[in-house]
Amino acid sequence: MAFRIITAEEAAAVIKNGDNVGFSGFTPAGSPKAVSVALAKRAEEEHAKGNPFKINVFTGASTGDSIDGVLTRANAINFRAPYQTNADFRKAANSGLVNYADLHLSQMAQEVRFGFMGKKVNVAIIEACDITDDGKVYLTTGVGISPTIARMADIVIIELNAAQSKSIKGLHDLYEPLDPPYRREIPIYKPSDRIGTNYLQIDPAKILGIVETNKPDEARGFTAPDPITDQIGLNVANFLAADMKAGCIPSTFLPLQSGVGNVANAVLGALGRDKDIPAFEMYTEVIQDSVIALMREGRIKFGSTCSLSVSNECLDEIYSNMDFFHDKLLLRPSELSNNPEIVRRLGLITINTAIEADIYGHTNSTHICGNKMMNGIGGSGDFTRNAFISIFTCPSVAKEGKISSIVPMVSHADHTEHDVNIIITEQGVADLRGKSPVQRAQTIIENCAHPDYKELLWDYVKLSGKGHIPSNMAAALGMHAEFMRSGDMRNTNWAEYVK
Ligand code: COA
Repeated sequence: MAFRIITAEEAAAVIKNGDNVGFSGFTPAGSPKAVSVALAKRAEEEHAKGNPFKINVFTGASTGDSIDGVLTRANAINFRAPYQTNADFRKAANSGLVNYADLHLSQMAQEVRFGFMGKKVNVAIIEACDITDDGKVYLTTGVGISPTIARMADIVIIELNAAQSKSIKGLHDLYEPLDPPYRREIPIYKPSDRIGTNYLQIDPAKILGIVETNKPDEARGFTAPDPITDQIGLNVANFLAADMKAGCIPSTFLPLQSGVGNVANAVLGALGRDKDIPAFEMYTEVIQDSVIALMREGRIKFGSTCSLSVSNECLDEIYSNMDFFHDKLLLRPSELSNNPEIVRRLGLITINTAIEADIYGHTNSTHICGNKMMNGIGGSGDFTRNAFISIFTCPSVAKEGKISSIVPMVSHADHTEHDVNIIITEQGVADLRGKSPVQRAQTIIENCAHPDYKELLWDYVKLSGKGHIPSNMAAALGMHAEFMRSGDMRNTNWAEYVK
């Protein structure tokens, strides 16, 4: 072995206060799990001595608790981008204790290259399942921004994880586009096209050493589908089957992107069960358990993704059946998995989950009542704006019916009326294509709002008068204000807003 075996503590010792540190992986999949824990300990020791110690964290997307949780609890993060899902980090971001920039995931790698978050990557920590003496590094279950941070970093630390099977070698397709003004088209014309290498070539002189680990991905579990998420899934499947019959979606079907979370997992399960929908391919950023099950059943033919964000049991199944999965999966950097050019070219049907949608079709994926960050925009913007058909799903109500997911005006806008084609709740489907804002409001309230809220929403429309997007600026956030006041949007009284 050409490289020194070092401890996580020795690796952490080279990281300095204020450093920009890049981490491999995308979701907990493929994220390093050891050096960050030693680094957090070091930060606590420095703080105890009265010394400042915080780093800037650059990742592909969310990570596991060993990065976001442990570093947040040690007060060791100054700045972090992009998407996260960690409860402690979320609390810190919402209390103003860390600086969090919520970027579109496709843009993260290039913004690091452009120097938008600082001119340098000081240290890159990359999880690998194998490494050769000349610096060929084989990644694990998530890619994220690894090619960019590994190339730019002054120092690279490899976490060689024995818990990740070497049989994953060959699944990766690693490629970095040139930056403008030299960028050319990215030659992916179908989800299974390979354009890069299956290893990361890193200058051996930059590799500080190898930290040996044996830790499974810190995968999150899913809530089992319930009648509401099952009905949403059924509504999505019925809508897609009907749209194909109507000739909008080609009879060959189109590749699918599906978002993260409980709702997305249930929707994919329902799509797989609908035999009116032909077996399909995926071009997406995360593959969850439901996709792997559908591949086994022959319902999904191929999946291009940035990560295998699956449960540990599901990953074991993949590793034990690599002969089956080897020609059905590709793992790419987020810059490719979420690339607007490719999304538009392939004609993706995109399905993402909203926190809330308004009656005109703007959707909010990120903020509760306008100011509390949930997770982040993730790839939903990359996919939605460039989709062939963009779909948003959500239950019609949250928190035992005290919150309506359909509101007069979203409290934070991630995706605008210009980008959102279809909204689907368990109540039904609002097809917004070819409709004016007023027509959209009618179909969203009629088809998607919960019965408890329909009248309230119609009364808001009456209050709004005329205009291209009729709105009453005083009342538009009245349902949110009511929730903050009484804890239940159903108590909203529009009379308070009539002069
Ligand atoms: N107001 C307040 N809380 C709401 C809400 C609303 N309008 N809508 C949902 N919530 C709460 C739920 O009650 C739940 O809370 P809990 O964790 O306390 O139980 C939480 O938000 C998650 O909602 P859930 O219905 O379980 O959905 P999910 O797990 O599918 O997550 C998102 C939904 C929007 C948070 C998630 O999909 C996300 O982060 N999306 C943004 C990123 C993205 O779309 N990436 C796509 C590319 S992969």
